[in-house]
Amino acid sequence: MYSLISFSLLLLPFATPSNAAVQVSVPPTPSTSNVVHSNFLGISFELSFMTDYFGNDTDHMSTPMLNYLAAIKARLGNNPVRIRIGGNSADSSPYIDTASSPMVQLQAGDFNANDQPVTYNPMLWTVMAAVSKSINGVAYLINVPLAIAPNASMANDMRNILGSSLDSMLLGNEPDLYTGHKKRPNVANYTVDDYFGEYSTAIATIGANDVSGKQDIGGPSICCNWDLGAVLQAGYLTKFSSALKYIVLQHYPQNNCNGGKFPYQLPWYLQHSNTVTLAQWQKPGIDYLLSQPAENRPQLINSEFNSASCGGVPFSPSFAVGSLWSIDYALQMAVVGYGQAFLHTREGGIPYNLFAPPVGPPGSAGAWKTNSPYYALLVMGEALRTDHGAIVSDLNLGDSATNPNATSSAYAVYNQGNKTVSRLIIFNYANSSQDFALPASVFSGSGTALVKFLSAATPEEETNISWGGETWSGPDVTDGKSTQKPSWATPNKNLADCGKNGCTFTAPGPSLSLVILDDAQNLGTIITPDPTPPSNSNNNTGTGNGAKGKGGAMGLDSSLTTVFGAVLALLTLTFFSS
Ligand SMILES: *[C@@H]1O[C@H](CO)[C@@H](O)[C@H](O)[C@H]1NC(C)=O
Ligand SMILES: *[C@@H]1O[C@H](CO)[C@@H](O)[C@H](O)[C@H]1NC(C)=O
Ligand SMILES: *[C@@H]1O[C@H](CO)[C@@H](O)[C@H](O)[C@H]1NC(C)=O
Ligand SMILES: *[C@@H]1O[C@H](CO)[C@@H](O)[C@H](O)[C@H]1NC(C)=O
Ligand SMILES: *[C@@H]1O[C@H](CO)[C@@H](O)[C@H](O)[C@H]1NC(C)=O
Ligand SMILES: *[C@@H]1O[C@H](CO)[C@@H](O)[C@H](O)[C@H]1NC(C)=O
Ligand SMILES: *[C@@H]1O[C@H](CO)[C@@H](O)[C@H](O)[C@H]1NC(C)=O
Ligand SMILES: *[C@@H]1O[C@H](CO)[C@@H](O)[C@H](O)[C@H]1NC(C)=O
Repeated sequence: MYSLISFSLLLLPFATPSNAAVQVSVPPTPSTSNVVHSNFLGISFELSFMTDYFGNDTDHMSTPMLNYLAAIKARLGNNPVRIRIGGNSADSSPYIDTASSPMVQLQAGDFNANDQPVTYNPMLWTVMAAVSKSINGVAYLINVPLAIAPNASMANDMRNILGSSLDSMLLGNEPDLYTGHKKRPNVANYTVDDYFGEYSTAIATIGANDVSGKQDIGGPSICCNWDLGAVLQAGYLTKFSSALKYIVLQHYPQNNCNGGKFPYQLPWYLQHSNTVTLAQWQKPGIDYLLSQPAENRPQLINSEFNSASCGGVPFSPSFAVGSLWSIDYALQMAVVGYGQAFLHTREGGIPYNLFAPPVGPPGSAGAWKTNSPYYALLVMGEALRTDHGAIVSDLNLGDSATNPNATSSAYAVYNQGNKTVSRLIIFNYANSSQDFALPASVFSGSGTALVKFLSAATPEEETNISWGGETWSGPDVTDGKSTQKPSWATPNKNLADCGKNGCTFTAPGPSLSLVILDDAQNLGTIITPDPTPPSNSNNNTGTGNGAKGKGGAMGLDSSLTTVFGAVLALLTLTFFSS
């Protein structure tokens, strides 16, 4: 099935056996207790540019976008894809309560590129509801403005049209910057007290319960200047306990707001210890939150991150930053207590975006391009997919949590149900291949594992990226769907007979290896069902194969077990026919 010859040729130049195998040691049980799910990593979209990605209205929805989301959904089991819609633009743009096309319209004028005001209307919710239906499950977290007074009809429309796919309303965005961003010109110093007052008024306007009566508000969405612990202890948790579903932070490692001046260059993103430090931001507040009784504390989430705020660093599209670093930081957040995190995407031309639609007005025909951060969503879905939730531990491989010189790091993912090791995620940040020795203790009864590689030839590579032997990049993949299995991709590796003495495998450099130890190793190729066509969409945009048919054998409505069964059946056929 795989081209083994070209694989060994590819490895020859790097295969200097000077590096002894790195011994990975894995505690039998997790050292932490935070439970996360396959949809931990979601996508954050800036409100102003929703039409670029999804189309203008229900009659012009972008098929490539649905394909991208369907490929993520196929990796999540029964969990919905998480999408956050928000940002500065969502905090101060007016809502018009009559549906029209386009669903989001840029306001005319000269505005700060990082805060482009729009108007938006109920068509947005109708399109989002159709997207969720089409790919069989999206959970939306949507900013509701606080910088301007929120509008009750907006909240009603959202709850009515999105129904159970509306997961939460995130009230306000970065209130700790309201003074700096001149959102409160008549207040010299906008304080936490001012904020609490406005928050109460806003909740009274928009309500605090979803269609089933459960609390659905998220906040405070602070990014920079306020101390989470102080905000929580000043009464945020107690005052709003009957409203809050999420405690929201958003945080980038650095900003690129000052004409290209920023401290951290590409090598910084390849040092695992930096993700450890980064995830400690607001630690006292996080610890305070996690010390509250589990049954009634809101879940902690990061609603927006990427390589740098104000549009990212120029080398954001690189494999090192977009793919490896995004995953390392996301896993680190899972370790310290977050329940969800969202990779941000803005208007075309911003280097850190997950995908690039064709240039031109929203809905222009043409090829879509897959950027490196998109792979983070695919990998995280597969890495954290377990039947009862996952607990992630940083294994501190070779003191990588503190030593910036370490070139490899590793995480273990434990199954919350039986507390056994389900997956290992191993980063090789070096430019050369590296052997990793896995202990016998992580292999269950069968003594086998499947290793999938996320790899590229260099840290700077932007296009030639493969995951599990497959690529979503390059000139031949233009619709988010028609993936290729190029000869340069690192093929999957099956490990066997590892129950007694463990097993060693070689990871190319740079790469991420996902070692699948539980039954999911038998899943085989993950097949993405076609998105079902949105019911009132007649014409889809993009050059992709239109969304036709019902999704064939891997029908969207199949239960997880049926899909497993069907895939196993296909695999069996393949084995016996080749
Ligand atoms: C919401 O805003 C729209 C337009 O700005 C306005 O027509 C409508 O009356 C507002 N609704 C409420 C309940 O404030
Ligand atoms: C703003 O108010 C807070 C709380 O009262 C205070 O701690 C802070 O020093 C003030 N900042 C400025 C710039 O006045
Ligand atoms: C979407 O709306 C924009 C702005 O009005 C327009 O330029 C573009 O042609 C529209 N796209 C489609 C496919 O109609
Ligand atoms: C990392 O490498 C530098 C340069 O070789 C060295 O000076 C430093 O001591 C090393 N740090 C650790 C923690 O090993
Ligand atoms: C890997 O090679 C790139 C050039 O492709 C270089 O910039 C980088 O420093 C190298 N990384 C390591 C860890 O040697
Ligand atoms: C991808 O990388 C391979 C070798 O690693 C090279 O042969 C091929 O030309 C590259 N493709 C693109 C589109 O850069
Ligand atoms: C733990 O549960 C997973 C998922 O159901 C299963 O694949 C694995 O075999 C179980 N491990 C043990 C030791 O029972
Ligand atoms: C779909 O698009 C084609 C070509 O642009 C057009 O001829 C046709 O009328 C459209 N169909 C519908 C139902 O809008």
